[in-house]
Amino acid sequence: MSSKNSKANRRNFLKLCGLTSLPLMVPSLGLGSSILNEGQKFNPDVLDDDNQLINFVTDGLMFSPQERIQKLMEIDKLHPIKTDFYGNGGAISELEQAFAKLTGKEKAIFVPTGTMANQLAIKLLNKDNTKVIVPENSHIFRDEADAAQAVHNKRLIPVGKNKPHFNLQDLKDTIAYYNSGEVFKSGLGTIVIEHPVRRADGASVPLETIKSISNYCRENGYKLHLDGARIHIAAAYTKVSISEYASYFDTVYISLYKYLNASGGAILAGDAEIIDKMNHQIKIYGGTTYQNWDEAAMALHYLKGIEDRWQKATLVAKQIISSLNKLKEVTISDIDNHTNIYNLVLDESIDARKLAQTLSREYNILLRNPNSKGIVKFSINESILRKDTNYIINAWKKSIKHSRK
Ligand SMILES: Cc1ncc(COP(=O)(O)O)c(C=O)c1O
Repeated sequence: MSSKNSKANRRNFLKLCGLTSLPLMVPSLGLGSSILNEGQKFNPDVLDDDNQLINFVTDGLMFSPQERIQKLMEIDKLHPIKTDFYGNGGAISELEQAFAKLTGKEKAIFVPTGTMANQLAIKLLNKDNTKVIVPENSHIFRDEADAAQAVHNKRLIPVGKNKPHFNLQDLKDTIAYYNSGEVFKSGLGTIVIEHPVRRADGASVPLETIKSISNYCRENGYKLHLDGARIHIAAAYTKVSISEYASYFDTVYISLYKYLNASGGAILAGDAEIIDKMNHQIKIYGGTTYQNWDEAAMALHYLKGIEDRWQKATLVAKQIISSLNKLKEVTISDIDNHTNIYNLVLDESIDARKLAQTLSREYNILLRNPNSKGIVKFSINESILRKDTNYIINAWKKSIKHSRK
């Protein structure tokens, strides 16, 4: 691929992910200079604690490579990291045991990507059935490059277009439609729920909806898979435990890098009958990697105490949002069933790009630029615990003063 083409593809990808308007200094996202704003500065090489980045942009802490290396060294001092060998033993086994416990499932296994965890879960759960029902706006349906069709011979049937998620009635209607309308019947084996929903700004699927779909699936012999890439954040905001969520599903995938700050990786949890087949499947599809201890060590480190940190972070976020909403230039509002993403709108007198630049240059605080509707997607993550809340609020107040048009 020519470098021009790959740049264009990357731009397209970032646009689809809603990240094209990110300010300049996002080293861990590896943004190309052509899509960056001018005039912003962030030096990822400075590692002293006072310079730690606060970001209102992503799920996690956004480590630079240097910060990641340093963090791994700190982790190793606290708890010497043990290597795995092709995903067996060491930190990987520890991680798998921790996730089996957290989800209440018989077993959990490390998978190199969430995409692979989703696809292999569907494949194994569905057995010889060809149809899998998925949310229309899900990662599985829209962001996994038609892997189910292209690689696994599964036909994905989307439900709930233009809605954050489907409900039991939508599911029943879809099943009835296919049962009555197809002459040469082939089986439906699996239903997927994504929760929280990435394409709906992290909206959560109400527990009652999950329960009703789960009961229906069990009564009718369908398997149920959870794309819970961000289940930690759903649990933090809804106060429903991860093990309770997991209990309604046959298999659960959880990302290691969204909220656990690993450089990549995923966990799939479920019954031993399914999980024991995964190692072989991962190898068949080329996913068995020699050493994965670094991802496991980071994830294990951030797994410890995550509930307490998020309890604090949700409270601090409330304080920050309430203080910013007192400024006449800022309006932050909830989305329905929200987790950690809010809509932020600036008064017309404020130049949003200037504000993002000032916050980053003067205070090491990252903010997205507005989308085409003038809304800044405002994400909360653990980085707000890195500084005193007053520091963050004052940084905003001062930056707003310097960002008039
Ligand atoms: C909801 C959801 N599912 C699955 C994935 C896939 O994860 P990975 O990048 O590890 O393949 C993502 C990644 O963004 C996601 O947001």
